Amino acid sequence: MTNLAIIGGTGLTQLGGLKISKRDNLVTPYGTPSAEFITGELYGKEVVFLARHGNPHRIAPHKINYCANIWGLKQLGIESIIAVAAVGGITNAMAPAHIAIPDQVIDYTYGRKQTFFEDDDFPVTHIDFTFPYHPKLRAALIAAAGRAGVSISNTATYGCTQGPRLESIAEINRMEQDGCDLVGMTGMPEAALAKELGIDYAAISVVANWAAGKSEGEITMAEIEHNLHLGMAKAGNLLQSFMALD
Ligand code: HPA
Repeated sequence: MTNLAIIGGTGLTQLGGLKISKRDNLVTPYGTPSAEFITGELYGKEVVFLARHGNPHRIAPHKINYCANIWGLKQLGIESIIAVAAVGGITNAMAPAHIAIPDQVIDYTYGRKQTFFEDDDFPVTHIDFTFPYHPKLRAALIAAAGRAGVSISNTATYGCTQGPRLESIAEINRMEQDGCDLVGMTGMPEAALAKELGIDYAAISVVANWAAGKSEGEITMAEIEHNLHLGMAKAGNLLQSFMALD
């Protein structure tokens, strides 16, 4: 895999094991990215790491400058992005600490800058978004999980909400009826912006909690942290196996 980046979400603000060789603080035409771009060697391969919420973790999902992040990665020559993100589990298989490689997305966000193609000097551009996540990159992640013995869901529909609050039971019920398996707050517009710039993009969704109404009572930060700890360890194994693939 050439010119690979990993965008780390909640629970992955730093990439353990990264042998750092370079740090880039970029300013883009879209403003300042979430954090410095950290280049290093991970399990013998070069990778650029970006902490989506900043380091320390401080930028709420709706305030992330997705355009600056993706533009910055493009400037660094990145051709493939693996996005790691915490999610809530909606359907039965999506239990806490489980991992899914989503294949579809529904965007419920609003008021975020959704595109690079909105200035009058661009011809009107409509990117194809039939497959929001790059099929070959997804297949490589699925193969890597198999080799690492990490049990995952090979497909899932990711619903992206605005946040930063979690959802009501009624909102989750509606999302389930829409076909969502997972709910998160950062998958969009990140996936679409990567596609606009021709960067292959796939995601590792780590389930932090049952979504609202899918377990008894309220969702606590303590349970999210506990499950993310377990889930991110699995995601780390998956990434290690992925880096070992040619
Ligand atoms: N909803 C939205 N985003 C999330 C959740 C959730 O329940 N858990 C982790 N990210």
